[in-house]
Amino acid sequence: MIVLGIETSCDETGVAIFDSEHGLLADCLYSQIEIHAKYGGVIPELASRDHILKTLPLIQEVIAKAGIQQSDIGGVAYTAGPGLVGALLVGAAIGRSLGMGLDVPTLGVHHMEGHLLAPMLEADPPQFPFVALLVSGGHTQLVKVEGIGRYELLGESLDDAAGEAFDKVGKMLGLPYPGGPHVAKLAQAGTPGRFVFPRPMTNRPGLDFSFSGLKTFVRNTIAEHSDEEGKLDEQLRADIARAFEDAVVATLSIKCRRALQQTGLNSLIIAGGVSANLQLREVLEKMVAQDIDKRGSKGKLFYAQPRFCTDNGAMIAYAGCQRLMAGQQDDLEIRAQPRWSLESLPAI
Ligand code: KG4
Ligand code: ZN
Repeated sequence: MIVLGIETSCDETGVAIFDSEHGLLADCLYSQIEIHAKYGGVIPELASRDHILKTLPLIQEVIAKAGIQQSDIGGVAYTAGPGLVGALLVGAAIGRSLGMGLDVPTLGVHHMEGHLLAPMLEADPPQFPFVALLVSGGHTQLVKVEGIGRYELLGESLDDAAGEAFDKVGKMLGLPYPGGPHVAKLAQAGTPGRFVFPRPMTNRPGLDFSFSGLKTFVRNTIAEHSDEEGKLDEQLRADIARAFEDAVVATLSIKCRRALQQTGLNSLIIAGGVSANLQLREVLEKMVAQDIDKRGSKGKLFYAQPRFCTDNGAMIAYAGCQRLMAGQQDDLEIRAQPRWSLESLPAI
């Protein structure tokens, strides 16, 4: 089955063509970063308006790139939530209408399920069951995954998501939006151990997260070390970025190890924008390799290539294809669900 995937939940217009027999045929991405950068964050109305302009031309482009005809499309999948309602509605209206026009089954896909399954697009995909750490701009969740739609939420952030904390710290350090990749780059020049920030909620049991206290800690450290004009020495900026990244990575690593121990599983997948973070990958790679389970096998870490960690159409085309092939499809109503629990999804 050849499926067209459409992602418009936030500030990226992503489209892709996934073929169940030949894998990913093509994908195209348009990022709105430049539009929102001057405001320091995503402006929902501007996001919706830009998706309206970009989605259809991008779909034409991806069909040409895949070397197929519109009539070869056997199913349409679009992100139905969670996300910004106006942005979601653009993808939902276009996806649902195209599906009706082409007379093919059409399905609204859960954005975080898309992220979760993105490592399946790689050459060495994970096998079920596994533990998934979902770390994006809007979510930080640990999930036990037994199969598609068989999700048990083990823990989640009680306040800011990991990516959101990266973005806010980026702003405090005067870095462009979105802060995550810029904080990570600045941290490379930082001296490890120059500052040590707290690892929130790691000294009590459970798998929930909280990043808002850490953010305040960063704000106070910046204030403490800034000069009278509020300026911060360049090396200090890098040291603070490093200490922040180390604290987030260590916290995520402690909770992932706990989740693997609690579930008795040894495969860990990381997905979502923050899973592109090299320091996180490195630390988790070491952590899983150290732990040997009861059967004597080492743990293994899986992640998608960086362009499929952040928002993209390929993950939606893939997730949609699996569900459409299992016979799932939506009726003709155009639906968007800005809030949508991963656990409520049906199994296939
Ligand atoms: O998954 P995603 O593209 O969008 C959401 O679904 O939210 O994630 C975007 C988030 C942003 O907060 C961004 O700053 C963060 O992922 N991010 C990173 C890195 N690359 C993207 N955070 C830390 N290190 C990175 N290399
Ligand atoms: Zn996302």
